[in-house]
Amino acid sequence: MSIELTVNGRTVIVAAADDTPLLDVLRNHLDLKGSRYGCGLEQCGSCMVLIDGKAEYSCAREVASVAGKRVETVESLAAHPLRQAFLDEQAGQCGYCLSGILMSAKALLDSNKNPSRADIVTALDRHLCRCGAHPRILRAVEKAAAALREGARS
Ligand code: FES
Ligand code: FES
Repeated sequence: MSIELTVNGRTVIVAAADDTPLLDVLRNHLDLKGSRYGCGLEQCGSCMVLIDGKAEYSCAREVASVAGKRVETVESLAAHPLRQAFLDEQAGQCGYCLSGILMSAKALLDSNKNPSRADIVTALDRHLCRCGAHPRILRAVEKAAAALREGARS
């Protein structure tokens, strides 16, 4: 089956069974290894991507269901202030869960450039990060939001 979708602004056609998980297509067909496999059960958030701008799990999402849709992965964030903010704050410990966290943060900042601490906590609620990096992760998202507001002013 050929399925057409847009990934990080590029139209791609993949040959895959309809029920192939989107995460497998991203990692194995398109060589985008940033999105991570954690639980495979929509429980941990490490596979989070944006689908038509909304943060969604990709590990159990059938690729056929995203035909014609816009998918964004962590690879699209190379020039986004989130990347620098996470580096500046050293916001992560294992790093494995960060690609998913970054995508949920991106979805939040796309719709709200001035989120409160509570907004950020809520946006990251579906992610299992069990290390001590939480305060740094929250600070990094606040810092990226400030950079986006600053960029919009200049
Ligand atoms: S791998 Fe998708 S939620 Fe855990
Ligand atoms: S950065 Fe991975 S568990 Fe916190």
